[in-house]
Amino acid sequence: MFDRKPPATDVEAEVIEGLSETRKRLPPKFFYDEAGSKLFESITMLPEYYLTRTELEIFERYLEVMASSIGPGVCVVEYGSGSNLKIRKLLEQVRPLAYVPVDISREHLIDSAVDLAADFPELQIYPTCADFTGAFALPAPVAHLPKVGFFPGSSIGNFQPDDAEAFLAQVRETLGVDARLIIGVDLKKSPEILEAAYNDARGITADFNLNLLTHLAAVLGVQFVPARFRHRAIYNSEIGAVQMFLDVVDTHEVEIGEVQIRFESGESVHTENSFKYEPEEFLRLATRAGFRETGRWTDPQDRFAVFLLEVSA
Ligand code: TRP
Repeated sequence: MFDRKPPATDVEAEVIEGLSETRKRLPPKFFYDEAGSKLFESITMLPEYYLTRTELEIFERYLEVMASSIGPGVCVVEYGSGSNLKIRKLLEQVRPLAYVPVDISREHLIDSAVDLAADFPELQIYPTCADFTGAFALPAPVAHLPKVGFFPGSSIGNFQPDDAEAFLAQVRETLGVDARLIIGVDLKKSPEILEAAYNDARGITADFNLNLLTHLAAVLGVQFVPARFRHRAIYNSEIGAVQMFLDVVDTHEVEIGEVQIRFESGESVHTENSFKYEPEEFLRLATRAGFRETGRWTDPQDRFAVFLLEVSA
């Protein structure tokens, strides 16, 4: 493994900072402990959560075309690694020489690299532990190969648009002048469909959101009580994002380190944004980051788009 040693974050300081603001917030990166990852896995299979299914459909239908546009002999760099269906389909079609999964979790990186190595014996795999939102160096053995970045799942929507642009500019820097990028983007659509995707009837997304409290309680040794909060997801059309909150249902206080935090009944803790884009709106952002469109594929209902971008001259 190529360990770029991402600095450990001061979780307590971050949590205190977020909860001390007038509009309280908690950092979404703590969604994904073991329970959270399992819950997210379940979310992707929900009838209301069309994103994963739709993106997979698009890949199933068009990966062959994407692959022939990309050509042979490349190195695929995946931002956030998964041993999941999407990367396997991509590897099968694109047949790259090398694959660089980049993830913050060492454990996850190693487990999924071992799984993939068994199924793709010819593939050179260089797991890289790094915080991909910042600058990091690619493994030296792939230096000479043309890079194809892979960023599926509309994870780009979890950045504020300004940060999304900065992130794409960073990707361009990391991957070099001949780079391409395959990126999945959830599109703007009716608020009913969007809100249902983040507020499913079975309450799995609610459990996922509330698990942030359970996880942080365990990590920090504090007394967050999930039963004192309720999940809420609304589409904010002004900013173009589904916003997730944990609403306080009864007033209480929690001690975190030296600090006493008061949760007032009726107030909300913001946990996550999921920005949605019109295709042209996303492309303007990508253009500002130094990319141009080489291909675009959508589902018949235009719910989701997969773009193939290349570095503009
Ligand atoms: N990027 C995906 C999305 O915005 C996955 C995701 C991130 C998500 N955070 C989430 C899904 C919180 C549900 C709830 O949809």
